[in-house]
Amino acid sequence: MNVVMVGAGYVGLVSGACFSEFGANVVCLDVDEDKIAALQRGEIPIYEPGLEALVARNVSQGRMRFSTEFAGTIESADLVFIAVGTPSRRGDGYADLSYVYAAAKDLAPHLSGYTVVVDKSTVPVGTARQVQRIIKEENPGADFDVASNPEFLREGAAISDFMRPDRVVLGVESERAERLLKELYRPLNLIETPVLVTNLESAELVKYASNAFLATKISFINEMAALCEAVGGDVHAVAKGMGLDGRIGRKFLHAGPGYGGSCFPKDTLALVRTAQEHGTPCRIVESVVEVNAAQRARMVKKIRTAVGGDESGKTIAVLGLTFKPETDDMRDAPAVSILPALIERGARIHAHDPQGIEEARKILPESVEYFSDIYETIDQADAVVLLTEWNVYRGLDMQQLQKRMRGNAFVDLRNVYEPATMRQAGFDYVCVGR
Ligand SMILES: NC(=O)c1ccc[n+]([C@@H]2O[C@H](COP(=O)([O-])OP(=O)(O)OC[C@H]3O[C@@H](n4cnc5c(N)ncnc54)[C@H](O)[C@@H]3O)[C@@H](O)[C@H]2O)c1
Repeated sequence: MNVVMVGAGYVGLVSGACFSEFGANVVCLDVDEDKIAALQRGEIPIYEPGLEALVARNVSQGRMRFSTEFAGTIESADLVFIAVGTPSRRGDGYADLSYVYAAAKDLAPHLSGYTVVVDKSTVPVGTARQVQRIIKEENPGADFDVASNPEFLREGAAISDFMRPDRVVLGVESERAERLLKELYRPLNLIETPVLVTNLESAELVKYASNAFLATKISFINEMAALCEAVGGDVHAVAKGMGLDGRIGRKFLHAGPGYGGSCFPKDTLALVRTAQEHGTPCRIVESVVEVNAAQRARMVKKIRTAVGGDESGKTIAVLGLTFKPETDDMRDAPAVSILPALIERGARIHAHDPQGIEEARKILPESVEYFSDIYETIDQADAVVLLTEWNVYRGLDMQQLQKRMRGNAFVDLRNVYEPATMRQAGFDYVCVGR
């Protein structure tokens, strides 16, 4: 089976490598010439555990290659996946579909023989039909179907998520499309992965509804954390007590600096806009978005308070910049809103991250100073802020910290450490909801 992934980013590259591992012949196609040149040299442009080896194996076995050319690539494809970005549109929060539509327009003239064009990007309900319309306009004679196959992988665990998903969702309108997609995912039958076949609209909505629901759990527990702080509760205990109820579940009940990353912020916002547009507002998701923004502001205030109420002239050592561990992705990371707010008020930021520094340099204010050694980062710091729970921060040498820091404030925005132990050790320890 011949597969083309249009877009070789986090989703396109991981999905392409995994489809190739399933036995398909895969071309990852991208308009970014530098990215494709790097991939052709064997360099992986993102940090994702296990990806380099997976790509190398499939390339060397001749099932995976990279291209910038639609012509000569699309013609032989049985399935073309659109896996380009769908960021928030500046100003109004709608999903920016210009990359999806450009991809549809560019691939359309090259369709040859029956092909299924599949939206893998996260796209608002109705997008697959627009893709269908664009392709028909560009190539009226094309023999094709559109389908929707939203992706649920998590960065940092992307390969195992793709290889062992909770479910595969297929939005289809024809038996031919369903057959081809099921054939592609057939290796997952062995592990009895549920495959949900539905119409285009439902498949598109499953993705947004899932992300919005997970974001709701996060905002919910963050509100509980604030309440715990006000009344002397411990959000760890509350989350545990809630999570032990099988109907609720333990996951996504970790209080922290608010959700971030390349999906939840833009997807919750896009769902809110879609719902408003259709006259059926999603009030709960609207609140989730508001609570998340407020949570970030609350974190800035926590840090400010920890350094005595005024951050000007203070050195704040920040451990972790990416939106979560095991990725280099900085898109909408809490650091992106929290650090500029501190810098604006005169704080000096010393930052460390195991993988994210290169990306961070592109989006954080220039004044941030980066360090490759954790303990150099905290040298003479007035406060340490643990912002992303990378494993290397879970067993910090507290004596070193105390020796090297100027102050003794430790702001643990991921609740990694035990408050009692940290306070006993002499830190002015602050966390979330405990
Ligand atoms: N990153 C995730 O964890 C994740 C998980 C599930 C779903 N998604 C969704 O998948 C989609 C892709 O996300 P991503 O994180 O992989 O994005 P990304 O920004 O990492 O990659 C997108 C790629 O598409 C390329 N591109 C843009 N326009 C193109 C065109 N016309 N033709 C060919 N290539 C083009 C870009 O150069 C880029 O390399 C988004 O809709 C996102 O919401 C992402």
